[in-house]
Amino acid sequence: MSEHLHIERDRGLLTLRMQRPDKKNALTRAMYAGMADVLDEADQDSSVRVVLLTGGEDCFTSGNDLADFLQAPPSGLNSEVFHFMRALFDFSKPVVAAVAGPAVGIGTTLLLHCDLVYVSRSAQLRMPFVNLGLCPEYGSSLILPRLLGHARAAELLLLGESFSGAQAAEWGIANQVLDDGAATLAMAREMAERFLELPPSAVLDSKRLMRAPGREELRKVIEEEGALFGQRLRSPEAIEALSAFMQRRKPDFSRFG
Ligand code: COA
Repeated sequence: MSEHLHIERDRGLLTLRMQRPDKKNALTRAMYAGMADVLDEADQDSSVRVVLLTGGEDCFTSGNDLADFLQAPPSGLNSEVFHFMRALFDFSKPVVAAVAGPAVGIGTTLLLHCDLVYVSRSAQLRMPFVNLGLCPEYGSSLILPRLLGHARAAELLLLGESFSGAQAAEWGIANQVLDDGAATLAMAREMAERFLELPPSAVLDSKRLMRAPGREELRKVIEEEGALFGQRLRSPEAIEALSAFMQRRKPDFSRFG
């Protein structure tokens, strides 16, 4: 298990916390693998009723570790990131997310696969895929235009505009915006604990019904996005963008025609 994950069990509530504060909880391959294993095991463990996913009171996650993207880009459906995506996509029990501070890249797209999402006023959500020479991932190219309309989705996915916790709640990506990280975690926990009082099979059946429409289409889109994302990670545009981040300079795309 990655040293950057913290797992806590309290009755049927499993809290999975990303904990790599010096890198804003950037997700390494080991973290993805660990998160996938925790979810796969929790899905099989009948004593787990609900999962709470958080990065703590100050930061959700800055997304994929950009050094990993440059040095060891994931390839294919057997990569750690895909294992994690599949584990969350197929997770049969409720997942509640508590989001404070940055939620970048997969930090935003994974929220589309959670059941309840609570965000802090401090939350800054962003999907800078194109800015990094990449393309949308994890079904966001399908889900967001349907949820927000093409125009607003284009600002988020093509321009990589960031948006606030309040906007996430207004647009239906999150349930509610709270004043700070502590209040967000407390609310997420309170709502997650409600599942402990509910009949578990009825919850599972209902989640399955809610997620069923268009599910196989979405799975296919996630795989198509993943294949293109993997190709784009190796493109000169992405290498320029990722190198610029590591070198703390502005990327220069002027030579690309
Ligand atoms: N991968 C690797 N390292 C990252 C990272 C990432 N995704 N995000 C942040 N870090 C590192 C920084 O390099 C820095 O490391 P250092 O102290 O060793 O130099 C440290 O985390 C703190 O980041 P910093 O940028 O100084 O914090 P900030 O509060 O000014 O900004 C973010 C926070 C998240 C807005 C900013 O770091 C950012 O934009 N990160 C990249 C996000 C991204 O593009 N993710 C991938 C999407 S596909």
